[in-house]
Amino acid sequence: MSKAIQIQQYGGPEQMRLVELEVGAPGPGEIRIRHQACGLNFIDVYQRTGLYSNPLPLTLGMEGAGVIEAVGEGVTHLKVGDRAAYASNPPGSYSEVRVMPAKCVCRLPDGIAFDTAAGMMLKGLTAQYLLQRTLPAEGLQPGDFVLFHAAAGGVGLIACQWAKDLGLQLIGTAGSAAKCALALEHGATHAIDYSKEDFVARVKDITGGKGVKVVYDSIGKDTFDKGLECLRPFGLMACFGNASGPVVPFAPGILAAKGSLYVTRQTLFTHIATREATQAMADELFAVVGSGAVKIRIDQRYPLAEAAQAHRDLEARKTTGSTVLMP
Ligand SMILES: NC(=O)c1ccc[n+]([C@@H]2O[C@H](COP(=O)([O-])OP(=O)(O)OC[C@H]3O[C@@H](n4cnc5c(N)ncnc54)[C@H](OP(=O)(O)O)[C@@H]3O)[C@@H](O)[C@H]2O)c1
Repeated sequence: MSKAIQIQQYGGPEQMRLVELEVGAPGPGEIRIRHQACGLNFIDVYQRTGLYSNPLPLTLGMEGAGVIEAVGEGVTHLKVGDRAAYASNPPGSYSEVRVMPAKCVCRLPDGIAFDTAAGMMLKGLTAQYLLQRTLPAEGLQPGDFVLFHAAAGGVGLIACQWAKDLGLQLIGTAGSAAKCALALEHGATHAIDYSKEDFVARVKDITGGKGVKVVYDSIGKDTFDKGLECLRPFGLMACFGNASGPVVPFAPGILAAKGSLYVTRQTLFTHIATREATQAMADELFAVVGSGAVKIRIDQRYPLAEAAQAHRDLEARKTTGSTVLMP
């Protein structure tokens, strides 16, 4: 049996219930993992509200770290007793023990603690594919400006550090002076408090009127239109989330008018579609965390049973860095 956080129907955090579930043996291509820590991500909110739909009842959670307890037929990259971590579909990491597909589960280097791993797999792999694979037509070179919204959040603080390591000038936005200070401490070259300042004017000012090559936008509805104003000609609007709600439909002609812009909407799950791709990306993440170039900040910890409070705090913009749930 395993304690787990489930929803029976879509809705607010009050739908999240602590339940006891039976956990069986892994089938072909699966493993059973006993979690030591589970990661909290904004996607968990979209799945709880039904913005992203899944079969119900649903155990939430896409990120975790723990010890492999059993290995199904055909799984060769993991063995019983291995320390492991993952960002993976289907949801289910808000639990003590689960059976899941092995494909996206990676062996964890000894130097990385379980709580660190639970706070970095989904967010770190996202920062990796954004900064290294979600690029404008002419690529990104050291010294280039990019704009990264919610720079003091879970994905954001990892992206600030990774961008610095790549030599990029990351302009971060965040919702308070304290959050801006955090983004700067972690490698952003500039920070804009978009709750008070006009980020379009500030970006123009910082870039000498030229604009940035890429806007990495996880906020969606509230920032999309203004983000287009921040781009240089041929720049890329890289949408990857909807913290304020989904972007409303728009006519492509606007992209011509603003300088032959590109728009993409990315998801991590396309990038980690195969075992080989997942491992290659995870190896890069383990390397930057192992070298200290990227430090994982766990600013909030909650017992698994208090996952609903963690959701309330995330949605109220009270969190910074990563958040983990402890089973
Ligand atoms: N597509 C993908 O592959 C992928 C993968 C991972 C994450 N994501 C997206 O990346 C974003 C960051 O994820 P995360 O888990 O690291 O979360 P997070 O950044 O720690 O938290 C979200 C942040 O968004 C900002 N925000 C702006 N408007 C908001 C609103 N109306 N409601 C709530 N928050 C708002 C807040 O920061 P301020 O107060 O500073 O504004 C808040 O702290 C999320 O949108 C998530 O969906 C996408």
